[in-house]
Amino acid sequence: MAETDEHIAEAIGRPDLIRVDEGLICLRFETMKVVSALAAVRHLLDTGAVRRGDTLLDSSSGIYAYALALACHRYGMRCHIIGSTTVDHTLRTQLGILGAHLEQMPPSSDLKLDQKRRVARVHEILDAHPEYHWMRQYHDDIHYLGYRAIADRVRAAAPADGSPLTLVGGVGSGASTGALARYLRADGAGPVRLAGVQPFGSVTFGSEHVADPEIIIAGIGSSIPFANVSHTAYDTVHWLSFDTALAGSVDLLRRHAVFAGLSTGASYAAARWEHAHVPGGTTVFIAADTGHRYVDTVFARHAEAADLDGLAPRTVSSLEELALPWSRMEWAGARAPARAQATAGAARGPARAAFPDPARGLA
Ligand SMILES: Cc1ncc(COP(=O)(O)O)c(C=O)c1O
Repeated sequence: MAETDEHIAEAIGRPDLIRVDEGLICLRFETMKVVSALAAVRHLLDTGAVRRGDTLLDSSSGIYAYALALACHRYGMRCHIIGSTTVDHTLRTQLGILGAHLEQMPPSSDLKLDQKRRVARVHEILDAHPEYHWMRQYHDDIHYLGYRAIADRVRAAAPADGSPLTLVGGVGSGASTGALARYLRADGAGPVRLAGVQPFGSVTFGSEHVADPEIIIAGIGSSIPFANVSHTAYDTVHWLSFDTALAGSVDLLRRHAVFAGLSTGASYAAARWEHAHVPGGTTVFIAADTGHRYVDTVFARHAEAADLDGLAPRTVSSLEELALPWSRMEWAGARAPARAQATAGAARGPARAAFPDPARGLA
């Protein structure tokens, strides 16, 4: 008899592996963080940190809200989300029916202010409800756990001849790229290179001094330090402008019929470049979400998209040299830049004391 899933979250969490070119594989999720939230909630229940019926709280700009709501639905938990202004009508409607409580920030074009407001609101809620469990998706490494099974699937799709595997993905909380690289490296089946993808204007890998005039690439980069980013795990970092990511997303749909979001377009562009420069290797890039949220801001503008074949990064040797539209640097396992160093307690300590002071941490 064919195996069935017990809950749709398990099906949504399982990615497809699509070979879009010789040795170039798209790890395509419908919604990436479902697998991470499911394993994190399961771990909290198994270790007795929470009990069924408890309330799980976190702030999200989109896909984590959906992922946590599904995990709460699966395991009988209550869910309270402080949502960014970017949470759209489709997601808002689903969250309501799924039983998640969404508090959404007022409309704002300043996403740093939006992030700051959300962090402040989380603190207020925890003061009023000390019994709530704050998930801390950006800091608590229980969010790594769910990616172990995905790493096994990636390994099974790569040649078993010890040739190099390069993993390319956007870095938001850092959990997906950090976890996949950690588990792939631990299996000892061959060398694993990790390339992180960033927007300009993010503190995570030190691009905060370069502003992108276009809208941001949702879900990647940050204006505050995140403990879940393992800086030393990255060999290479790419910084892409919105326009370059748009060119990637449009090319991926046109050439390979994969309809995915902007962080995917950026990762695909970076992956093509890395792949062309590592002869004989396999390159896997992460597609974290589908293109639906980006129809108006990205795909409707396809006529303006630059030809991806005509674009290439400028490789720089220091962060001072970073410049639009596309820069690349050998990170070579360096530590976090000063402004991206998360406090030691952020990942493990008590929820309220652990997070950096929002007034200080946000630009
Ligand atoms: C669309 C999108 N891509 C990539 C990422 C980065 O994933 P991670 O938080 O695991 O670094 C996110 C995170 O929110 C996202 O929303």
